[in-house]
Formats: sequence, C-alpha cells, structure tokens
Amino acid sequence: MRKCYNWLFVAGAGVLVVVGILIFHYAILPIIVHKQVAETLQLNNGTDAWDRFVNLPVPLYFRVYIFNLINPDAVARGEKAIVKEVGPYVYKETREKFNLQLFDDNDTVRYEERTKFEFDAKLSHPLTEDDYIQPTNPTAPIVYSIVERLPEVSFLSELLDPGFKAMFGDRYGLTLNVTVRQLLFDGVEAKCPPNGTIVNRLVCSAIHNFPLVKVGRRLPNGDLSIAILRFKNETSGGVFEIYRGNHDFEKIGMITSINGAPTVDNWPGERCNLVSGTYAESLIKPFLTMDSKFSFYDDDACTASPMSGDSEETVEGIDCLKFTPASSFLSPVTDHPENYCYCPGSIGGLTQGTACLKKGVMDISPCQGT
Ligand SMILES: *[C@@H]1O[C@H](CO)[C@@H](O)[C@H](O)[C@H]1NC(C)=O
Ligand SMILES: *[C@@H]1O[C@H](CO)[C@@H](O)[C@H](O)[C@H]1NC(C)=O
Ligand SMILES: *[C@@H]1O[C@H](CO)[C@@H](O)[C@H](O)[C@H]1NC(C)=O
Ligand SMILES: *[C@@H]1O[C@H](CO)[C@@H](O)[C@H](O)[C@H]1NC(C)=O
Ligand SMILES: *[C@@H]1O[C@H](CO)[C@@H](O)[C@H](O)[C@H]1NC(C)=O
Repeated sequence: MRKCYNWLFVAGAGVLVVVGILIFHYAILPIIVHKQVAETLQLNNGTDAWDRFVNLPVPLYFRVYIFNLINPDAVARGEKAIVKEVGPYVYKETREKFNLQLFDDNDTVRYEERTKFEFDAKLSHPLTEDDYIQPTNPTAPIVYSIVERLPEVSFLSELLDPGFKAMFGDRYGLTLNVTVRQLLFDGVEAKCPPNGTIVNRLVCSAIHNFPLVKVGRRLPNGDLSIAILRFKNETSGGVFEIYRGNHDFEKIGMITSINGAPTVDNWPGERCNLVSGTYAESLIKPFLTMDSKFSFYDDDACTASPMSGDSEETVEGIDCLKFTPASSFLSPVTDHPENYCYCPGSIGGLTQGTACLKKGVMDISPCQGT
C-alpha cells in the first residue's frame, strides 16, 4: 500500500514537472523572449537596433532589364515590334537615413532616407555599363503621355514628330543607340535651341515644366538631358515618421505619416493613398505568423500593398516566413472594386473596358513621373 502511494506521489510530481515545463515553454518563455526581443529592437539612439536602422547593413540589389527593339524599320512600316531582353544590369542599392529626429512624448522617430545606386560590375558580368543598347526612345512616350493628360492640347500630337527630329537630329528614330549608363543615369541629350522651331520648343518646354516628368533635367545651355533612374539616386523619398516600440511594442515600425500627412497624394482616391498604419521597408514588426496581415509601403510604387504569408523557407540556415503582396493587390477592379484608384485612365490597347489595367500590371507613372 505504502509503496503504491509512493508511486502515485512520484507520478503526481512527474505530472507537475511536465505541466511546469509546458507552462514555462508555452506561457512564460514566450513572454521572456518577447520582452528580450522587444528590448533589443526598440529604436533608441545609441543601440545596435538604431545603428541598423540608420544604415541598412545589407545591400539591396536593383536589377535592370532593357528591351532592345530589333526591328525599328519594320515597326515604322506598321509591323509588330520584336523586342529582345538584355540584362540584368545590376546596381547595388545602399540606403542611409538622415535628418533624424526622436520624439519621446509620442514615441516616434522622423527621418528621411536616401538611396545610392552603384553599378555592380561583378554581378552584371559579362554585361557592362558601357554596352550599347537600342531601346525605344523614351522621349516620345513621355511627351505623348503628357499630351494625353492635357486634353486641351491633344491636337498637338499630330505635330510632335518634327519636334522630336529637331531635338535628336540624325539620331532620332524609334530607337536610340546609347550606353546603359547614358540611358539610366548620365542622360541622353536632346537639343532645345532658343532658335528652334515652335514644336521643338514646345516639346522641350513640356518636359521641363510638366511636374510629373522626373526623368528630364535642363542643362546650363538650355538643352535637355533624359535619364531614367537618375532622379532616384541620392534623393530623399520624403519625410517618414514611424513608431519606435517603447510605449506599444505592437506598433514598432508602423508609419504614422509621410511628409506630415497620414496619406500621400499620388492616386485619385483615399484608399490608394492611405499610408498611416502601414510599414516602411526599414522595420517590419516581429512575431509574424503565416496568418499575419499587414500592409507594406513601397517607395517605388508609392502605395501600400496588403501582404499575405506565402511559404516557409530557410535562408542561410535561418527559418523564415515569406510574405508576398496579397492577390487582391494588382487585381482588376472588376474583382476588387477598392482598386479603382489605381486605374490610370485610358492606355491604348492595354486597358480593359473599365479603363483599368489587367491583373498584375500597375501604372506607376502617377508616382514615379512619366
Ligand atoms: C544620438 O546621439 C548622438 C550622441 O549623443 C547625438 O550626436 C545625435 O544627435 C543623436 N541623434 C538623434 C537623432 O537624436
Ligand atoms: C509626435 O510629436 C511630434 C512633435 O511634437 C509631432 O510633430 C508629430 O506629429 C507627433 N506624431 C504623432 C503620430 O502624434
Ligand atoms: C549616384 O550618385 C553618387 C553621388 O553623386 C555617384 O557617386 C554615383 O556614381 C551615382 N550612381 C550612378 C549609378 O550614377
Ligand atoms: C551604336 O553606336 C556605337 C558607337 O558609336 C557603334 O559602335 C555601334 O555600331 C552602334 N550600334 C548600332 C546598332 O547602331
Ligand atoms: C540656331 O542657332 C545655331 C547657333 O547659334 C545655328 O547653328 C543653327 O543653325 C540655328 N538653327 C536654326 C534652325 O536657325
């Protein structure tokens, strides 16, 4: 009998230990881990987390693919274009925050960020920045899209062709023959002489003065230099304010405002412009699960996309959750009416009846410039 009691006691103690371990593992340990993680991630001047926040320690790589138009003469005769993709031309992207301001009362940090692009010769090999490419001339689409947005001058489109000829001289055609570096960063020059024809001056003036055109830059002699990515190099994407996670760790990294407002003004509709409550790429809240829902503000698209858990992966030995934009993002308005504010109006041949783009395509010119 006595022995039996002992066994019961041992078994009872065993159960207690197991329960204790379970409580520790499932209830107490997460709290300790949560607290430790929170303490290491909160954004406070002088901490490692702060240094990682100010200078993103891992480089990002921006891969550019260019479509060479290989049958410009046939296209000029009205035949279908044949394009050949070349690339990737790889640029290393480093991001640095500046103009940092900490607010303790409401637990936020305000900052600007500049991105620097540098050509990565090794990752681009055997391609080089000095390769000659024959893309379609970007000027004509830029000017046509300006004209498209200004219905009162649409009659001008008939007159534009001579304007381009005056700007590019002998080099004008459907394609350019320029180096990758010229097209992306150094600039392709276009003539804008004071004694040019009216149409020549009109095209130059449109590119100089239309606020959405970020790719053109006026040279000291009045001529124009057109480079597709130059405006993104070493420029600030705006003033961001986010939560630092000291008061409410659940909100760490969450954007409160961009340029002082809870919305941006790139799109014709409040929903597409809403940024407060979304996350910038510099800091996403931890402890996500596959079911977590959050939105991610992307500087290149100038809007926040809802994200959803995609898969579990292992990257360099670390277990990761992979999130991708939710399928509702870039879905046609017919399925997701809330996407109406991404509709660009009419784009010949590409748009559907509702004047919206097909699934997976987005016109980012309202934010990136034409
Ligand atoms: C962080 O601390 C350093 C050293 O005390 C100071 O120079 C710097 O201005 C502080 N940064 C911010 C954003 O307050
Ligand atoms: C935080 O405080 C600063 C300075 O008072 C203020 O400009 C900012 O709007 C505040 N942000 C929020 C989200 O309250
Ligand atoms: C970006 O700007 C920096 C500083 O002006 C310059 O050194 C760098 O070469 C530029 N990047 C490219 C790809 O032109
Ligand atoms: C492009 O220009 C370069 C340098 O002037 C020249 O060597 C090359 O043959 C040209 N390519 C084409 C396709 O016109
Ligand atoms: C405009 O002036 C430049 C130099 O001043 C001259 O070379 C050019 O031929 C002139 N063009 C026209 C269309 O008069």
